[in-house]
Amino acid sequence: MSARVESAWAIRRMRPRDIDDVLAIETTAYGYPWSERIFRDCLRVGYRAWVIGCPGLTVAGYMLATIAAGEAHVLNLCIDDCARGQRLGEQLLDTLVAQARSEQADTILLEVRPSNTSARRLYARYGFVHQGTRPNYYPGDPKREDALLLAYTVPA
Ligand SMILES: CC(C)(COP(=O)(O)OP(=O)(O)OC[C@H]1O[C@@H](n2cnc3c(N)ncnc32)[C@H](O)[C@@H]1OP(=O)(O)O)[C@@H](O)C(=O)NCCC(=O)NCCS
Repeated sequence: MSARVESAWAIRRMRPRDIDDVLAIETTAYGYPWSERIFRDCLRVGYRAWVIGCPGLTVAGYMLATIAAGEAHVLNLCIDDCARGQRLGEQLLDTLVAQARSEQADTILLEVRPSNTSARRLYARYGFVHQGTRPNYYPGDPKREDALLLAYTVPA
C-alpha cells in the first residue's frame, strides 16, 4: 500500500481472505509477529476482528479482540506503517467500544510494551489508564519485556 491520506476509511469485519494482507502488515510491524495459523484460529473461534481500509483498496489496519464476561480484551491492533498518524487506530477502538457496549461489556483491557511510545500515546489519548504490570510478558532480545496492563471504562 502506498502512503496516502484517505477521507473514506471504512471498517468491516475481517474475513479469511483478508489474512494475506493482514499478515503483510503484521510481519512488518512486529518483531514477534502472529502466524497465519493464529489469525485463522481467531476467526474460526469467533473472536471479534475488523479491518480498516478504503473500498477497493488493500487493508490498512486491523484489530482483534475478545468480549466475554463483561470485559473486552484487545489482542492485536495494528496499522500499516504508511497509514499511521491518521487516527485509524482510534477508529478501530471506537468500533470495539460500540461492540462492547452492545454486549454489556463495561471494560476494555489491553497490554502494551512500555517501549511502544506510539501505542501508549494512542491509548492515553483515548482514555486508557494504567491498571497493572505483567512481568516478563513479551518476548524480547536479549531479555523479555514487561507489559503494562491498561483499562478503559466503556461510557454508558
Ligand atoms: C500503535 C498504532 C496502532 C497507532 O495507530 P495510529 O492509527 O497511527 O494512531 P494515531 O494516529 O493515534 O497515532 C498515535 C501515535 O503514533 C505516533 N505517530 C504518528 N504518526 C506516525 C507515523 N507516521 N509513524 C509512526 N508513528 C506515528 C505519534 O506518537 C502518535 O501520537 P500523537 O499523535 O499523540 O503524537 C500503530 O502505530 C501501530 O500499528 N504500531 C505497530 C503495532 C503496535 O504496536 N500495535 C499496538 C500493540 S499494543
